[in-house]
Amino acid sequence: MKQTVTLNIEGKSLELPVLEAIAGASVIDVRSLSSAGVFTYDPGFLSTASCDSKITFIDGDAGILMHRGYPIEQLADQSEHLEVCYLLLHGELPAEDQLATFKNDINERMPIDSQFAKIFDGFTRSAHPMSMLCAAVAGLAAQFHEGLDIYNEAHRKESALQLIAKMPTLAAMTYRKITEQPFIDPNPELGYAENFLNMCFGEPGRASQVSSTMASALDKIFILHADHEQNASTSTVRLAGSTEANPYAAIAAGIAALWGPSHGGANEAVLNMLEEIGDINEVARYVDKAKDKDDPFKLMGFGHRVYKNFDPRALVMQDSCHAVLAEKNAQDEPLLEIAKQLEKIAREEPYFIERKLYPNIDFYSGITLKAMGIPTSMYTVLFALGRTPGWISHWCEMLSEPFKIGRPRQLYLGSAQRNYTDIGSR
Ligand code: ACO
Repeated sequence: MKQTVTLNIEGKSLELPVLEAIAGASVIDVRSLSSAGVFTYDPGFLSTASCDSKITFIDGDAGILMHRGYPIEQLADQSEHLEVCYLLLHGELPAEDQLATFKNDINERMPIDSQFAKIFDGFTRSAHPMSMLCAAVAGLAAQFHEGLDIYNEAHRKESALQLIAKMPTLAAMTYRKITEQPFIDPNPELGYAENFLNMCFGEPGRASQVSSTMASALDKIFILHADHEQNASTSTVRLAGSTEANPYAAIAAGIAALWGPSHGGANEAVLNMLEEIGDINEVARYVDKAKDKDDPFKLMGFGHRVYKNFDPRALVMQDSCHAVLAEKNAQDEPLLEIAKQLEKIAREEPYFIERKLYPNIDFYSGITLKAMGIPTSMYTVLFALGRTPGWISHWCEMLSEPFKIGRPRQLYLGSAQRNYTDIGSR
């Protein structure tokens, strides 16, 4: 039997339907509330579903993350990033020939037009790579604008392919820019993660020297970041896209939202924090600072809005992190020692246990990327590269069904109406 909720307000009774989910929480459909002259109030959207979706499911308490029904642990263990991209976009795992065609489609679209590459000339060496990536992706809207019909499914798929293909090239270009090195073209013979690493660390005209451990660890990082349902950046992509904006502009908005330290900037913030702590003997003092309510300091890489027991991605990342550290002989890296000590103390402290604050994926991915030799300012760029298939799949999903422009309401607490006073009498 269909459930309803009855709401009594100002003498009126409203019957609100309850919509059942396939898994997870049901939602109360409040769409009829505005006709009764009231809105819901939910800053931070802690109790609000902004849409329905068939892409990703998360159960934060149980530590479950599934894409199209497949658990993240199985995907990270058995698939590769481009297979996960296909799954997110198409809803099903690809057959062998479908995956081969998809890879070919991506490889063909990886090169960046030499005229377009001049966009990087406008930046100084000290520019933050996220700022360059955001500008470059927004710039793609200039290249792919005429004739683009967002209501045409084939055009949407083409935008998705272009974005998934061009993101590694653009991301690598930001790295070459900050390190003042010439750009390296993508090589269609290389896998997705290896291609990115070669465009960053290779030499023009020389065969790839990227180790399979590094390529596979990075591919795993991409898989683990591929989608995370209605997080801040994905919601931003949907909100920007709901105005019928160009998809490249909507993704650029998502990149901007990802940049902050409460979201994608967290793994960069983890490394900055470890560097600030600087000495293993300082760890306890910093843990005390994190517990002190008068101190704004937070332990970066701990806690998550939805995972309140453990982050399933953190468990996978932990293993990958150890493989990279072993190959790089970096087990004795001082920052890693600080990280281990921090993890140990935080896991034993009642403050963290009571609040269910556990290391999240950013904690381990930050350390892994550090061992790979990737500068901290590039970490969020790598997150953006990994998250692109998720963003564009959500954009495609939204556009494939009837949708409304996203336009939240507010609880107004400012002045009541008053009369304008002349400047001389204020
Ligand atoms: N260090 C110390 N205390 C913390 C931390 C932390 N990292 N995270 C949360 N807390 C405390 C809060 O102060 C609060 O304490 P109180 O109940 O005494 O007031 C309690 O734990 C609950 O925290 P909230 O802020 O309500 O948790 P919320 O779900 O809103 O925030 C967030 C989650 C933003 C991730 C937060 O834990 C945080 O800032 N962590 C550090 C940054 C980080 O690693 N972010 C990456 C997350 S993954 C992503 O991409 C979103």
